[in-house]
Amino acid sequence: MKFFADTADIADIRELAETGLIDGVTTNPSLIHKSGRDFIEVTKEICGIVDGPVSAEVVALDHETMMKEAEKLRKIADNVCIKVPLTLDGLKTCRALTDDGTMVNVTLCFSANQALLAAKAGATFISPFVGRHDDNGFDGMQLIEDIRLIYDNYAFETEILVASVRHATHVLQAAKIGADVMTAPPKVIRGLVNHVLTDKGIGGFLKDWQSTGQSIL
Ligand code: E4P
Repeated sequence: MKFFADTADIADIRELAETGLIDGVTTNPSLIHKSGRDFIEVTKEICGIVDGPVSAEVVALDHETMMKEAEKLRKIADNVCIKVPLTLDGLKTCRALTDDGTMVNVTLCFSANQALLAAKAGATFISPFVGRHDDNGFDGMQLIEDIRLIYDNYAFETEILVASVRHATHVLQAAKIGADVMTAPPKVIRGLVNHVLTDKGIGGFLKDWQSTGQSIL
């Protein structure tokens, strides 16, 4: 499963990129607002740090303006992936862009039928929001299972990008279901490494090592 960092924070992206653990980045208008940076400038900087897809979201609601925004955004770098909302205008834009060889991430997906439409529109990625789904009394991971089943039934190539990931259990469940990608805040990605027994084990080994009086270097 590929890991995308869900942030527009350059320091976080640099640090994660150096670990070799992230395969791309997702942003959205709220994350751009949080960064306090100019949208085009920060997206360009992110595209220079990671080789993989960097999602940049259009904000227009109509197809024609979405196309104009996408035209500007896709010139930023070859690894820009245009993010469009799951609306009829968004899907029309998705089809036009993917037919033209541009990567598209269809976002704000909350039903398996919406995901089916995105695949039919040729989306590169579909982003079901599991955290927001859970928050509203639905089962986010059931949605991922349903989309996996449907995409496999018809051999759709659209990649399932699990979004709105809130904790390590979401990551584990997404991997068990066979999602293609998950995007999570840097804190969640970093937290995956933690285990109390790992820390305890390191402590015990170091104590015994010091007792040997040896040094490797
Ligand atoms: C995905 O691309 C979105 O940017 C993101 O995962 C939304 O997450 P949130 O529900 O925590 O805002």
